[in-house]
Amino acid sequence: MSVHTEVKKVTTHALQRMKQHGEKISMITAYDYSFARIFDAAGIDVILVGDSASNVMAGHETTLPITLDQMIYHASSVMRGVNRAFVVVDLPFGSYQSNSKEALASAIRIMKETGAHGIKVEGGEEILESVKRILAAGIPVMGHLGLTPQSIYKFGTYTVRAREEAEAEKLKKDARLLEEAGAFGLVLEKIPAALGKAVSQSLNIPTIGIGAGKYCDGQVLVMHDLLGINTEFQPRFLRRYLRLHEEITGAIQQYIKDVKSNDFPNEQEQY
Ligand code: KIV
Repeated sequence: MSVHTEVKKVTTHALQRMKQHGEKISMITAYDYSFARIFDAAGIDVILVGDSASNVMAGHETTLPITLDQMIYHASSVMRGVNRAFVVVDLPFGSYQSNSKEALASAIRIMKETGAHGIKVEGGEEILESVKRILAAGIPVMGHLGLTPQSIYKFGTYTVRAREEAEAEKLKKDARLLEEAGAFGLVLEKIPAALGKAVSQSLNIPTIGIGAGKYCDGQVLVMHDLLGINTEFQPRFLRRYLRLHEEITGAIQQYIKDVKSNDFPNEQEQY
C-alpha cells in the first residue's frame, strides 16, 4: 500500500484512487496566498477555502455572515499560492439555498473568478437539485453532512450530530443520494466514529472527516486550530501541531521590548 500518491496535480480522479488504494487524504483550510503556498509546498492533498473564514479571518461568531464576494477574494488569494493541491471553495450561506439557478450562478462565479477546482455545499436531499445542476455544468461538488455550521440556528448547538437512529439514517441516505448525483467527495463533521465508518465503507467516493473518527478516507482541520493560533476552541477531535498563539505573542513582546529599548534596529540593520 502506497502512503503518498506522487501526482503533479491532485484531481478528483487522484482522490478517488487514493480511496481505492487505502491512502488517506490530507485536507486543511486556507484563506490567503502565504499559508496556501506553505501548505501546498508541504504536500497537502486538498485545500478547503472554508466559510470558516467568517470565524477565523473576520471574527464573526458563525459562518453565516460571509458573502460570496468575500469567499471569492479568499479563494483567489489561495489559488495564487497553489501548484499541486486540489482547491475546494465553500458556497457561503445564502448563495445556494433559494433555488438551483442561484446555486449554479454562485458556483460559476467561484469557478470563473477564482480558478478553484470545485465547490462544497452543506446538506443532502434538500439541496440535491442544486447539486445536480452544478454538476451538470461540469463543476465538481463536495458534500458536507453531520454538523453543518450554516444550520447552527436550527441545531441550536455545536454538539455531536446523528447520535440518534433517525438522524443517522437520514445522514446515510443523504450520503447515498450525493454519491448517486455525482459528488466527488463528502465531508463528515462531528458524528460518531461508528457512523463515519459505516458511511465511508458504504460509499465509493472518499469521505473526509472532522470529528468523525479514524475510518474516514481523509481528515480535515481548520488551519488556525491545527496551528494553535486559536486557544479557546478545544473540541475533543482537535490535535494541535503547533502553539503559534504563544510563539507569536512571545515574538511580538520581544519586538516591542527591542523597539522601546532602542535595541532594534542596530548598526547592521540600517543603511
Ligand atoms: O468551513 C470550513 O472550514 C469547513 C470545515 C470545518 C470542514 O467546512
